[in-house]
Amino acid sequence: MSIQKPKGTQDLLPGDVEKWQYVESKAREICRKFNYKEIRTPIFEHTELFSRGVGETTDIVEKEMYTFLDKGDRSISLRPEGTAGVVRAYVENKLYGEPDVSKLYYIGPMFRYEQPQAGRYRQFHQFGIEAFGSVDPSLDAEVIALGYSFYKEIGLKEVTVEINSVGTPEDRTVYRQKLQEFFAPVKHLLCKDCQSRYDRNPMRILDCKTDQKFTEGAPDILEYLDEASTSYFQSVLEHLHGMDIPYRINPRLVRGLDYYTHTAFEYKAAGIGAIDTIGGGGRYNGLVEQIGGNDQPGVGFGLGVERILLVLQAQGVDVPKPNPLDVYLIGLGEAAEKEVTKLLYQLRQQGVAAEKDYQGRKIKAQMKSADRFQATYVAILGDDELARGEITLKKMATGDQLTVSLADLAANAAKTLFA
Ligand code: HAM
Repeated sequence: MSIQKPKGTQDLLPGDVEKWQYVESKAREICRKFNYKEIRTPIFEHTELFSRGVGETTDIVEKEMYTFLDKGDRSISLRPEGTAGVVRAYVENKLYGEPDVSKLYYIGPMFRYEQPQAGRYRQFHQFGIEAFGSVDPSLDAEVIALGYSFYKEIGLKEVTVEINSVGTPEDRTVYRQKLQEFFAPVKHLLCKDCQSRYDRNPMRILDCKTDQKFTEGAPDILEYLDEASTSYFQSVLEHLHGMDIPYRINPRLVRGLDYYTHTAFEYKAAGIGAIDTIGGGGRYNGLVEQIGGNDQPGVGFGLGVERILLVLQAQGVDVPKPNPLDVYLIGLGEAAEKEVTKLLYQLRQQGVAAEKDYQGRKIKAQMKSADRFQATYVAILGDDELARGEITLKKMATGDQLTVSLADLAANAAKTLFA
């Protein structure tokens, strides 16, 4: 029996992978403009990083991590998200010693053992950014604006920013009590997960799909923020307003990771059904310290690449096609075929995208390949042309023909023909 890919993973084949390249290149482009630099961290880390960083009581750590003992009996986990690893690298490499705010970005695979469905995979990819070393609300707004303009620039329509403040741990102590009081009468009716969340992390009940009916009338966190947290939140909103970034305050937005303080936000898109959150993030002022660094604040987001591609497709957005092949060379006869091999190499060295047949097929089949590769030109070299030191190129779109010397093609084609 043939072997198949593990459940919840995807092969990205030619034809689709170009869309990924497009999204990735747009991510790099916007990070350049906002002055974020790329960081690449390991795909696996010590499990403790995630239990300490993401939080023991989160679904991610409790149920969704790919965790195993390596041959040295160390507990290792595939990264379920990007922030914890970037924080570890920030601390380990002492990036906090730098005078400027550290602004970092990453693009790569993450792993969560979830029930796969459209938009939810076990291996998925995130484009994420993390900015460390400032508690200026303009940085929160910048992070939100970067994601918003990224979505706009790749062509997504109807992206909404939902925003909330989850305050400080002190704000939340009071709020948690209020929530427990509110849910106490219905505690026995909540789902099993939420019954255990009730004691450990009652805010997560607000996020539970099954128990939505019990959340109506629940107290809003915004009413339990102290003065400083309230004015921080207001200031983030003012900056967003100043940049003309539309947002909707959602006091029920709690996010599934434990590290957030103050700003929490999500991007929602229309047209992809129930799983409409295409990205999310927020501020995490205590995380660096929790992971063993000094007291440096941070803020960032993670955007799901698969979900972006689903929205692009659902909204019928055209992704620019990559350049097709410049020329397909056909050699007729042994001597011409040898020359074609040489010529092909010379063209490629000049930067021309060129291809030939490798299966000894008839000219008709080779012409079909040229068509399939959407070659701009096809050029046939026979013994006669070879003897004259010339080759005729045919422009596939118009049928126009052009004869050039082999020497000229080998030396100048990139500048003349394919410029
Ligand atoms: P998150 O909300 O867990 O946040 O994930 C961010 C995004 O990753 C989601 O909005 C979604 O687009 C995508 N995503 C998550 N799980 C899956 C999945 N199973 N399949 C497909 N896509 C998925 C974080 O990961 C935080 N680290 C974000 C952050 C960065 N906060 C601060 N800095």
